[in-house]
Amino acid sequence: MARTRVVIDTDPGVDDAVAILLALASPELEVLALTTVAGNSDLEKTTLNARRLVELSQRFDVVVAAGCAEAIAGAVRYEGEGDVHGIDGLGDLQWDSPNVPLHDEHAVELLFRLISEGPLTIVAIGPLTNLGVLLERYPDCAALVERVVIMGGASFEGNVSPAAEFNIWADPEAAQMVFAASWPITLMPLDLTHQASLNDDDLAYFSGLNTEVGRRVADMLEPYARFHEVWYQQREVFMHDAMAVYELLDASAITKQGVEVSVETSGTYSRGATWIDRRHQHANSRTQVGVSVDNATFVELLRTRLSTYR
Ligand code: BDR
Ligand code: CA
Repeated sequence: MARTRVVIDTDPGVDDAVAILLALASPELEVLALTTVAGNSDLEKTTLNARRLVELSQRFDVVVAAGCAEAIAGAVRYEGEGDVHGIDGLGDLQWDSPNVPLHDEHAVELLFRLISEGPLTIVAIGPLTNLGVLLERYPDCAALVERVVIMGGASFEGNVSPAAEFNIWADPEAAQMVFAASWPITLMPLDLTHQASLNDDDLAYFSGLNTEVGRRVADMLEPYARFHEVWYQQREVFMHDAMAVYELLDASAITKQGVEVSVETSGTYSRGATWIDRRHQHANSRTQVGVSVDNATFVELLRTRLSTYR
């Protein structure tokens, strides 16, 4: 089986963690690296979390490279930071210090090298700063990238503001560059990712696996469920980032539509909003947006894949 060469650009993040563990348990993917970015937590913490996750998965072939600590327009902070993913970004559990080393190339340089070495799919599940800087430094590399699969944006309603979804809001300038570049993009916006969730039965299933991965996943998801209960009046947790990985495992699982996407970089109230134009004339656009997914099928696959960790 030909495996898809993948780099996951990430800000772990509880739902990033589930996405990463799903990817690392999937034989369809050759995950070469996790490149980190500031987002759900600062860069130091998201990078530490990426190293923790590689150690947890025992996939010591996967490189962890640190990327950008600040958005292109400067560092961003948001109200209630720490409420969603915990202060440490992974639900504030206890972890031993990971043995997984930090790679010595900057994430942007590593991405450029891996793009130069062969067909590469980039799964971007955090703010798009690393990809924006990559395009600033190496504008021609977009033509070499097989595909960029992004979790971000919203067609209808944001989460960090009424207009904007977090990953795009956290670096709108980078996002605008990413959507304007020539690479094929598949976008998983909130209106798609809100169809994908895990409930208390799923948490009990993971915990009942009696493996380190199973226990960690259930323990990380518990505070995330409490946040959902307060914010959305439901304990079911949204699996935003896992949708970007799921797309690579089964191309037919998520129905998609051709669109044009622009990012609002200057609005008084709407900075970071995605302008997703779904009109008919964009049917063949190189940018596709996820529209619908069957959650039961997704959850079944996630359960099966995570149960392969020993
Ligand atoms: C996105 O923001 C982060 O909190 C999640 O990890 C996900 O990537 C959802 O808006
Ligand atoms: Ca994320």
